[in-house]
Amino acid sequence: MELETERLILRRWRARDREPYAALTADPEVMQWLGGVLDKHESAEHMDRCDAHFDPWGYGRWVLERKADGAFLGYCGIANIWPGLPVEGAEIGWRLARHAWGQGYAAEAARAAIADGLGRCGLTEILAFTAETNLRSQAVMRRLALRRDPARDFDHPQLEPGDPLRRHIVYVAQEA
Ligand SMILES: CC(C)(COP(=O)(O)OP(=O)(O)OC[C@H]1O[C@@H](n2cnc3c(N)ncnc32)[C@H](O)[C@@H]1OP(=O)(O)O)[C@@H](O)C(=O)NCCC(=O)NCCS
Repeated sequence: MELETERLILRRWRARDREPYAALTADPEVMQWLGGVLDKHESAEHMDRCDAHFDPWGYGRWVLERKADGAFLGYCGIANIWPGLPVEGAEIGWRLARHAWGQGYAAEAARAAIADGLGRCGLTEILAFTAETNLRSQAVMRRLALRRDPARDFDHPQLEPGDPLRRHIVYVAQEA
């Protein structure tokens, strides 16, 4: 199972993604919103968890591969929300290598992943949330024309008051 957009293939994870994903998760600029950098072992574990999610659920974090040259760009896709958070259901997330920012790849991939989630996978809604300070991620949500849902905004339970990543704001994708 794969998804395809104009410039991208969205596919499951392969052994050859291990190295470029380790480089992505070792980049402090990419990981500043995501709890900080990962070492190689943590990165490989995360990649395995991302892939394993597809088996029971049909959706997950897809690898983004550029059609033109086969480059690994990062991931985008839907995962079930961690039960420790005060919001429920499924959420879409994106994490691109720094060299792949600023080219519209996250939004292009997210459109395909959301359509697949609401269509083939039968989800009735998909949340998107991020720290109030992560303006790049919010810009993707607005580009996708997701609906802002302030009633579901929350403080991340694992972060202390005063932490700039604590307050999270929520957007929603629903079937048209
Ligand atoms: C969040 C993140 C995925 C956003 O990536 P992005 O490349 O800015 O997002 P998009 O794919 O929507 O691209 C939009 C940009 O591409 C530009 N662009 C260039 N060519 C384009 C094209 N053909 N089509 C659309 N946009 C294009 C847009 O003008 C816009 O540029 P701007 O940032 O200068 O305004 C990326 O910054 C990232 O991985 N961050 C770290 C991880 C993270 O924070 N994840 C979210 C945690 S909740």
